[in-house]
Amino acid sequence: MRRLYVFDTTLRDGEQSLGITLNVHEKIEIANQLVKLGVDVIEAGFPASSPGDLESVRTLARELKGVIVCGLSRAVEYDIDCCAESLREAEYPRIHTGIAVSPVHMEQKLKLSPDQVVEAAVAAVKHAKKYVSDVEFYAEDAFRSELPFLARVLEQVIAAGATVVNIPDTVGYATPWEYAEMVKYVKNHVSNIDKAVVSIHCHNDLGMATANSVAGIMAGAGQVEGTINGIGERAGNTSLEEVVMAIYTQRSRYGIETGVNTREISATSRLVSRITGVPVPAHKAIVGGNAFMHASGIHQDGVLKERTTYEIINPEVVGVPKNRIVLSARSGRHAFRHRLEELGYYPEQENLETLYQSFLQLADQKGEVFDQDLHALMGDSVSEGSNININNISVTTAGASRATATVTLELDGNMTTDAACGNGPVDAVIRAIDRLVGEPVTLEDYTLQSVSRGKEALGEATVKVRCADGVLVVGRGISTDVIEASARAYINALVKVKRMAEGINRPAYAAIADEVSVFTNL
Ligand code: KIV
Ligand code: ZN
Repeated sequence: MRRLYVFDTTLRDGEQSLGITLNVHEKIEIANQLVKLGVDVIEAGFPASSPGDLESVRTLARELKGVIVCGLSRAVEYDIDCCAESLREAEYPRIHTGIAVSPVHMEQKLKLSPDQVVEAAVAAVKHAKKYVSDVEFYAEDAFRSELPFLARVLEQVIAAGATVVNIPDTVGYATPWEYAEMVKYVKNHVSNIDKAVVSIHCHNDLGMATANSVAGIMAGAGQVEGTINGIGERAGNTSLEEVVMAIYTQRSRYGIETGVNTREISATSRLVSRITGVPVPAHKAIVGGNAFMHASGIHQDGVLKERTTYEIINPEVVGVPKNRIVLSARSGRHAFRHRLEELGYYPEQENLETLYQSFLQLADQKGEVFDQDLHALMGDSVSEGSNININNISVTTAGASRATATVTLELDGNMTTDAACGNGPVDAVIRAIDRLVGEPVTLEDYTLQSVSRGKEALGEATVKVRCADGVLVVGRGISTDVIEASARAYINALVKVKRMAEGINRPAYAAIADEVSVFTNL
């Protein structure tokens, strides 16, 4: 079997594009799960983009074991120095440096001649090699470059010491056969290509990132880059879980394997969705809520007779357990714990009773408790321990849109009540909370979705608030009452903002300076 290396950039290409700044604790939580998933490389951030990002890459580099920790840099000395500094304590550090190689980027953005680009690329790799032995070079917009020029750049950076060469389809313009052609061209025209791993990095603008990546792998690429749930710039990056499962499902035909523990895929997807606030569409391949549902009678009949008639992946292989029991208020602690463990949660013994009591409360409200409810319950329990608790919310409405909310919160142990009018009940509740908490934030986005089935299904609210220093923070709340779910989500975000202001959870600022034209020649 040929071993394919899996490079995860959820925390860099995924995070920077969302405009969401994950704080270092959130990054660590995701990174630890990525280690459990078994990826080979974690791109932790872009250290030169801000002191916050440098700090969070430094923390990840220090904490993560058994995985390559990588930082991104432009082909600029300052960026590479920041990367090296942040990776100093990494067990396996990698600097990922590079420059654009397509005519449009070189002429219009960089304002550099091809010779100057080659010179900068080589100088960047040589500079990075002073710090680490593992240097990956990215040839940005490789797919729209002139192939002989691409080959020339790659040959020279490999001669300068690059161990991995990344040939991205930065704008998601390729089709699978064309992308495969580019990989083959590189393999056949770069004389020293045997000294480096060819890496592929696709974007999904035409919905072909997974197909292009699989084509690139079949054409001989040794590393694939992507993000969990495909989050990323514009239409996103390659969904790693899709590529991994395409390779896994066809392993006897392709003869390729990865180090990924596929049973962790579902848990990783949920975690990334919860922390970034980016929902996974129900029909999304591999990790969508409907990915293993069979609705039509003919399909149900087929699956009951023989699962493989309509199911190419056993859901358990990606960590979705068979639904044998439905929990209810009659379910005991043992059944509750057993199901949690099947879903990949192993709560500490001392937290189990609190969780069980929350479960019973939910079961009383809903009757039947489904897996999605348990995921929501566990996701919610993670954000507990806040110093703002909801004591009471009451709302009166007048007409279609006017509402008045009276909210009582326990703030640092003290009960306080205030009321506000708003354009609908959620707006009124948020305004009342603002009056009570007094944190200067702007609500930028609000979504509400049903977590599971049934008329008493849990509602999950997600809010994105912008704080005074421009950072976007995600808050999430669940409840069978959608107004309460909204209030919880808003308070969850305010708690995070307050912690940031106190210096706890300083964010990893993600805004990346787009002034590459101020290029520093090395
Ligand atoms: O899409 C791209 O070209 C990138 C590079 C910076 C690796 O993300
Ligand atoms: Zn990218």
